[in-house]
Amino acid sequence: MKIVMIGSGYVGLVTGACFSEFGFDVTCVDIDTKKIENLNKGIIPIYEPGLDALVHKGIQTQKLAFTTQLKDVIHDADIVMIAVGTPTNESDGQADLGYVFKAIADITPHMDDYTVIVTKSTVPVGTGKKIVELIHNLRPEYREGVDFDVVSNPEFLREGSAIEDFMKPDRVVVGTSSPLAKKMMQKLYHPLHLMETPILITDRNTSELIKYAANGFLALKIAFINEMADLCEIVNGEVNDLAKGIGLDNRIGQKFLNAGPGFGGSCFPKDTRALASTAHSLNKPSLLIDSVIQSNESRKDSLIERVQSEIQIKKEILNRKINVSILGITFKANTDDIREAISLKMIPALLKNDVSVKIYDPMYYKNSDRLQHLKDYANDWVDQVDFANSVNNAFENADIVVFLTEWNEFRGLNLKKLYKTMAISNLSPGVLIDYRNLFDKEDARDFRFVTIGRKT
Ligand code: UDX
Repeated sequence: MKIVMIGSGYVGLVTGACFSEFGFDVTCVDIDTKKIENLNKGIIPIYEPGLDALVHKGIQTQKLAFTTQLKDVIHDADIVMIAVGTPTNESDGQADLGYVFKAIADITPHMDDYTVIVTKSTVPVGTGKKIVELIHNLRPEYREGVDFDVVSNPEFLREGSAIEDFMKPDRVVVGTSSPLAKKMMQKLYHPLHLMETPILITDRNTSELIKYAANGFLALKIAFINEMADLCEIVNGEVNDLAKGIGLDNRIGQKFLNAGPGFGGSCFPKDTRALASTAHSLNKPSLLIDSVIQSNESRKDSLIERVQSEIQIKKEILNRKINVSILGITFKANTDDIREAISLKMIPALLKNDVSVKIYDPMYYKNSDRLQHLKDYANDWVDQVDFANSVNNAFENADIVVFLTEWNEFRGLNLKKLYKTMAISNLSPGVLIDYRNLFDKEDARDFRFVTIGRKT
């Protein structure tokens, strides 16, 4: 079976590489010439554990290829997957489908025989129908169900564990009412079926909505535990125990109940906004999702406020510029993705307060090639901060250290030793702000320890 993947970004690349591992012939297409040149040389544009090995193997076994020439590969494709971006449309919060429709317009003239078009991109309910209409407009002789079908097949990959999520998914969701397309999709996922992966086949609209509902529900879980963390602080409780206490009830489940600095990334913020916008446009606003979005934004603001007040205390005592080190600037650990990370909001706010900021991140350390990429998101402040090349270096002379992500290398730190390297005095102890609940209170006893949802 021949698969063409339109879009070689995060989802397209991971999905394409994984299907090639299953033995299908996969060609990934992208308009970015430099990216395709690099991929053909085995250079991967993103950090995702295990992806480079899969891509190298795919290239070697000739199961995986990369091209910018879409028209050369569409005619003999059995399945064309659309994995282009659907960013938030700033005017209404809805997903911008410009890239999706452009991809459809590009492939339609070149389709030959029966072709299944699969939307992997996260698209609002009703998009599949609009794609069918667009194809009809472009090629009126082409019949749905005979010459082509449009199928929804959302991805549920987490950055940092995307390969594992693909190979061992909790479920696969396929949205189609066409018997032909259903057969093709069953063949495509047959390798997973052998591992007894549940494959839910439903109609296209429901499938499109499932993706948003799943992310909306998970986002709600996070917003909920973060609000409970705030209550724990007031009553001197322990949010980790609270999460366990509710999560051991199988109806609730223990996963996704880690209190933190609010959710970020390329999916939850964008997808909750799009779901809210869809619900509003259908005259059925989702009060829950509207609140989740609001709760998450105010979470970020209040945690930034907490850092600012620690800075203020220090300023009053020391009467000089305060040195703050931020550890972890990505939206979570095990990724180089900084989209909608709290760091992007916190760092400029601190700089406005005349603070000296140093960053350490395993992906964005001093002299790392990725610093260039950071400029795409932080051009207005990146030149005003310093970069450390180690955790030790980040602690040196810092007045306050703030942990924003949960990288493994942060977990076993010798805090006692690190404390001594900070700018400390009897009047003003070093401040450790732990927004991922990484550290034991006992280990952090030298510091003024700020944590979330716990007794201090
Ligand atoms: C998410 C979904 O998990 C995935 O199924 C979907 O297809 C894409 O979006 P991802 O954005 O990679 O994946 O990250 P995820 O691990 O889900 O975390 C999202 C955000 O929530 C991060 O900012 C993370 O730090 C935060 N989070 C997650 C918490 O604060 N607490 C938790 O318990 C879990």
